Amino acid sequence: MRLLKKLKRYGKKKIVAMHMPGHKRKNLTHSSLPYKIDITEIDDFDNLHNAQGILKYCQNKLTKLYQTSQSFYLVNGSTSGVLASIFSVLDYGDKIAIPQNCHKCVFHAIEMLNLQPVFIPISLSQGIISDIKAHDIDNVLNNNPDLKCVLITSPTYDGVISDIVSISKVVHRHNATLIVDEAHGAHLFLDDKSAVNKGADIVINSLHKSLPALTQTAVLHVCHNKIDVDKVKHYISVFNTSSPSYVLMSSIDECVEFLLKKGKKYYEKLQKNLKKFVENTNKLKNIHILQNNGNFFDLDNTKIIIYGGNFTGHQLEKFLINNKIQVEMSNVWYTNCYTSLATSKADLKKLYKALKKLDKIFVYKKTDISLSIPKIKLKMPLCKAQQQNMQDLCLGDAVNKISGQYVWTYPPGIPIIVPGQLITTEIVDYLKYIKKFDIELVGMNNEKIYTIKLDNMEF
Ligand SMILES: Cc1ncc(COP(=O)(O)O)c(C=O)c1O
Repeated sequence: MRLLKKLKRYGKKKIVAMHMPGHKRKNLTHSSLPYKIDITEIDDFDNLHNAQGILKYCQNKLTKLYQTSQSFYLVNGSTSGVLASIFSVLDYGDKIAIPQNCHKCVFHAIEMLNLQPVFIPISLSQGIISDIKAHDIDNVLNNNPDLKCVLITSPTYDGVISDIVSISKVVHRHNATLIVDEAHGAHLFLDDKSAVNKGADIVINSLHKSLPALTQTAVLHVCHNKIDVDKVKHYISVFNTSSPSYVLMSSIDECVEFLLKKGKKYYEKLQKNLKKFVENTNKLKNIHILQNNGNFFDLDNTKIIIYGGNFTGHQLEKFLINNKIQVEMSNVWYTNCYTSLATSKADLKKLYKALKKLDKIFVYKKTDISLSIPKIKLKMPLCKAQQQNMQDLCLGDAVNKISGQYVWTYPPGIPIIVPGQLITTEIVDYLKYIKKFDIELVGMNNEKIYTIKLDNMEF
């Protein structure tokens, strides 16, 4: 049974809609929007928040595909899955071990639950945040025996995969729970690289990021029977709308059906095309692509990270747009071209052709990618920091003050500053460096930053 087929069949019926949504399945706007299949929890269409019928069946298909204990649909993105997983594992005021390159939703959970983050060290390799090391997690857990949960991002936005098998062994030895934010790796199970069968307890995937599914669709996998599934279900309900879109849910089901039937074939084809692309690009003089020279545990090669000699990632992005290629993200140092099962040989050929053209224009000069990422040092709990009186200060005057806000570049939405953090000279220099390249910093008010107004309190 396919949800989409059932919705289409229902859409053809001449049934008077005395229920939500307000469009009543009629095209009053004369647009191409899918009104016909956009319904609410009417008879025979189940209820995602208490799935007993078609939606239970669809989620069982998902569970079978990923071979987990139990998998769930999310319609508010991985954001809702990360929040639900943290809430189902931790209590108010608990500690959580995270690397600081977590997505902002992790910091939002910390804020809401007044959690105490303990930071797992991160390091850079080839200008990219590297994988998280099991021995660093072991140290953190040895020093904090009351830690109940470790959350890491794997793969990262740039495709860096951590050694989940070793990490999960360490985490479980300390009787803690491992949550893996695998938002960028929904496709990795096709290559036996997903955290779902590597020992993680809960894994969250954004289907919409790397698989053929509509934006906002994601899934949460419970992978270990020690997880309280009822609690997880409760918090999925808390962080997802009470009116889940049937258009989005049918998009998840179509994606699952596609993967069950053709996932492997498409993945193999993509890998073959990527291999050829890398072989060709390696012959270029000035264009460099991130590859694993043994510096990373593993890389998800569907993300193509392109460095340019003496030009920035943004300049490269502009060049590629002029060549009718839109990249996913660029920063000062590199550009991220995000491919998927829907990326064709022709798409990669076009990218290669553009890079070949570029290779002749730009002169190679080693980029300064040695800048280290300033460490987050909290001087006040995140949730408390947000409730203080604020003053906006110029960056230069903010040194030794406590930040009252988040600052991040979007994408990827990884905070550079969080509320409660001590603003150091290193941070100000880092922000000034980034601003030199005209990069938008979300949270900053022009050149100013909100700091906490504390009389006579400098650090
Ligand atoms: C690592 C990571 N986790 C979670 C999310 C949130 O995903 P979504 O946009 O599906 O809510 C993102 C979004 O970019 C992300 O990069």
